[in-house]
Order: sequence, then C-alpha cells, then structure tokens
Amino acid sequence: MIDITDRVRNKDLQSKIVTAEEVANWIQPGMTLACSGFTASGYPKAIPMALAERMKKEPFQVNIWTGASTGPELDGVLAEVKGIKQRLPYQTDSKLRPEINDGTVNYLDLHLSESAGLTRAGYLGKIDAAVVEVCAITEEGNLIPTTSVGNAASYVQSADIVIVEVNTSQPLALEGMHDVYIPLDPPNRLPIPLVKADDRIGTTFIPCTPEKIKFIVPCDVKDHTRDLSPIDENSKKMAAFTLELLHAEIAAGRMPKNLLPLQSGVGNVANAVLAGFVESDMQDLVVYTEVIQDAMLDLIDAGKLRIASGTAFSPSPAGMDRFYKDIDKYRKYILLRPEEISNSPEVVHRLGVIAMNTALEVDIYGNINSTHVTGTKMMNGIGGSGDFARNAYLTIFYTPSLAKGGKISSVVPMCSHVDHTEHDVDIIITEQGIADLRGKEPRSRALEIINKCAHPEYRPILLDYYERALAATKKANTPHIIDEALSFHSRFIKTGDMHK
Ligand code: COA
Repeated sequence: MIDITDRVRNKDLQSKIVTAEEVANWIQPGMTLACSGFTASGYPKAIPMALAERMKKEPFQVNIWTGASTGPELDGVLAEVKGIKQRLPYQTDSKLRPEINDGTVNYLDLHLSESAGLTRAGYLGKIDAAVVEVCAITEEGNLIPTTSVGNAASYVQSADIVIVEVNTSQPLALEGMHDVYIPLDPPNRLPIPLVKADDRIGTTFIPCTPEKIKFIVPCDVKDHTRDLSPIDENSKKMAAFTLELLHAEIAAGRMPKNLLPLQSGVGNVANAVLAGFVESDMQDLVVYTEVIQDAMLDLIDAGKLRIASGTAFSPSPAGMDRFYKDIDKYRKYILLRPEEISNSPEVVHRLGVIAMNTALEVDIYGNINSTHVTGTKMMNGIGGSGDFARNAYLTIFYTPSLAKGGKISSVVPMCSHVDHTEHDVDIIITEQGIADLRGKEPRSRALEIINKCAHPEYRPILLDYYERALAATKKANTPHIIDEALSFHSRFIKTGDMHK
C-alpha cells in the first residue's frame, strides 16, 4: 500500500487507513455518496474504481453527488457498469450522457451555487458518506483539499461519515491555496463578507473532526485533465470581437482600464478569449470564475493577472506540469473557494463580473439554450452559467453561427429549450459579429441578432420568418408563428438538415 502516514498528521487516525476495496465492500446499494471534485480536478479515484470493479461482479447502483463534472475514474467507470442511479449537480461524461438520456440515471441539473445549500437543507435526501480527496489530514482532523473545493466542505459538514482519499500525486504545496467559507442558512444567513476577488474570508482547510472520519484510503492516481484543442478560427474571431467590445466599454467610461472581474466558461471559445487577453494591452486583470485553466498561467507569466479566484484548478496535463514546476510563483495568484462562493449570485453581482459563456443555440430574441440538443437530449447541464449570467454586470454568450457541419443554424427563431432568458443576456457573439441587446426591445433585438450574428446562409431564412411573424401578429411585442418556430428543429430531426 502507498505510504501516506506523513500526510495523516493525526497519529490516531492512521489506524483508519484501509484499501479502496475495503471501502468499496462497505458501500451498500442505494447509498448516497457526496464526493469532492469539480471538473477533472480533486475527485476521489481509488474508491470509485474499486466500487466499479465490485459492481461488475455484483451489479447495484448508488447516488453520486459532486461539485460538478469529474474525471473518468469516477463518472466514467461507474457509468460503464451502470452503477449510478441519481447524479447531481452537473456532468460532462460521454459514457454517463447516454444513460441520462435513456432513463438509467436520474439527473438533477442544478445551479451550482445552489447545490450545496439544497443538500445542506436536506431537500435532496440524506448523505450516507462524504468521499473527499485531500492532500493531507491535519492534527485536528481537518482536511486539506487538492485541486478543487467544489461542494466538499458542505458535504463534509452535512455527513455523519467521512471517507478520505489521500492522494500522493497532489503536492503538499497546494496547502494554503484554499479559502473555505460555508454560509449560514436562512433564517440566519448573513452577507458574504467578500468585497474583492482576492479577499480571504474562510479557512485553508475543510473543517472536520477525527470522529467523523471512518476510512482513509491512499491513492496516487493523477487528476485526469484534458489536453487543450488548438484554438480554431471561429474562436479566434469571437475572441477578437470580445476585445473590441470591452475596449469600447472602457472608452465609453463604463469600465475601468483593467476591466471588471472576468468569468469564463470552459472550452475552446473561453480559451481563445483568455488567450486574447494575454496578447492584448490590458493589465492588472482580475478573474472571478469557476474553473482556472492554462490561460491563467499565461496571464501570470505575462504579468497581467492580479488574482484568479475559482473553485477548481483544471489545466491541461502540460499546464499542470508547468504549474507544479513553478508552484511557489503561481500559487500566489490562485485562490480556490467552495462553488457556493465562487458562483455566489450575491458576490458576482457585488463585484460586477463580466460573464462569458457558451450556448448551444440562441434565438432571435436573445433566449439561450445551453443544455438540451434539439430540445430534449441533455448535453452537460447548466453548470455555473446561470449563476453568472443572471447576476453579472455584463453577460456575454458565444456560439459559432453554425453547428453540425453547417446543417444547423445556431441562431434559431425560438430556442428548443431555454436556460437563460432574454432578460439576462446583454451580448451575443458569433464568428459573424457582436449583437448588443442592451436597451433594445424584442423587435430590435431580432434584427440585431439576425443581421450581426446569424450565418449569411441562414440570414434570409430568419429574416423571412421574422417579417412574416411581424405581419401575422400585427407587430406584437415578440412576433412569433409558434408552430413554424418549433418546426425549425423538427426539420433537422427529420432530415438532418434545417435547409430542407
Ligand atoms: N444544435 C444541436 N446540436 C448542437 C448545437 C446546436 N445548435 N450546437 C452544438 N451542438 C452539438 C455539437 O455538435 C456537439 O455534439 P457532438 O459532441 O455529438 O459532436 C455538442 O453539441 C457540443 O458542441 P461543441 O461545439 O463541442 O460545444 P462546446 O464544447 O463549445 O460546449 C456547451 C458548448 C454549450 C455544450 C458547453 O459550453 C456547456 O455545457 N455549457 C453549459 C455549462 C456552462 O456554461 N458552463 C460554464 C459556466 S461557468
């Protein structure tokens, strides 16, 4: 067994060190395991892998709660053996997705900022065990998180039983990068005392006690973070439009020269946008986001970042190596908090965040579908996009104007599913241009979005729809021909091509 005695600083607790298989055998069908992890960072690995092995011989299911998506050693292996009954609050696993869409898994797609509070309140049932990856356990039994905080602190607080995975691949130098604060619940809730992105308001550990800890399992499996894909042309164009927009905001006196705290989703567009900041003349940038990726290291190296506050540090494997090699430098710029704080509507609103997230499709009035492909099939989930979109100072959504190799327009008459309403969206950016929806009523928004953001091939189709809808409704506030708006998607479902 891997030696973790130096990381279990409370000598009495060392008697609780067992193998992952022993824990897997202790787990009972139907249990709710509330796990650490946010993106492929800081999730337990040895225990779910051992549980999946047991489930291969003896099929059963458990409920898995986490911070957000995790890596293949948790979601992937358990999905492979159909071992998950209920899953919340977010996922991105390609093996789990089909099980969500065929009824095997009951998926609760929650606003991430709300997920800890809902579980603390007990609305979602009881936690049978919190399963948490840590760097180390302190003398007092407190837990030092690894590359994410997510919901781990609230899960530990709510659980009677805590199972700890001590991961020796996670360097002890991570200690001190966390700021763990758990708000009180109504009617005792107080303002979250965070007024600047770099404020520290909590502890560097997850509070726990030796009595709560039932098992301690060694693990040396690394976070399974993904390689970055090269930035494509569309993303580069969207990044350039973003910089153009933000320079105009500074020129108009609506933002300071170093902007306002930036939040960006994950993936290609987010990466390109952040890479654009590295190249830009912007200085002293502040990031208040969920996931901290490679581009933050570039911003630090370029001397452009004051602080990046998030809930997970999830760079590519190369980014992780780079971080670990120079951890003493980078750690000063990175702060990891519970997702209830990184995504807090109160804090996002107070700081005046610029929210930049990606949509699957947008409609001509500015509603956004982030989750459901053609209205029914769950892609990933709303994640933190709603937390930021509703509460940010400036809310931007991105999408390439075309999807499915050009067979689908991402700009549609009516979204087949709505995650973010027209009331929350300020700006839409595609590779075609910027639609500024601020101060515009629905009819003006429609023309702005079609003319600036739709692909030229689909523009005439959308304009024709809009003009007929305008006539049919005698210039109603939001002109629609409902049956036809919905048939836009069914045309794709029937023929695989919206043109036909
Ligand atoms: N209609 C139908 N399918 C579409 C589509 C559309 N308009 N646009 C994209 N798709 C499909 C793609 O073809 C792809 O399917 P495939 O994997 O079968 O090829 C899939 O949706 C994902 O598209 P892709 O372009 O790879 O998306 P992405 O990596 O840029 O992610 C979201 C886009 C919306 C799925 C992703 O940003 C997300 O999950 N957002 C919600 C959560 C969020 O915003 N998190 C960050 C907040 S802090």
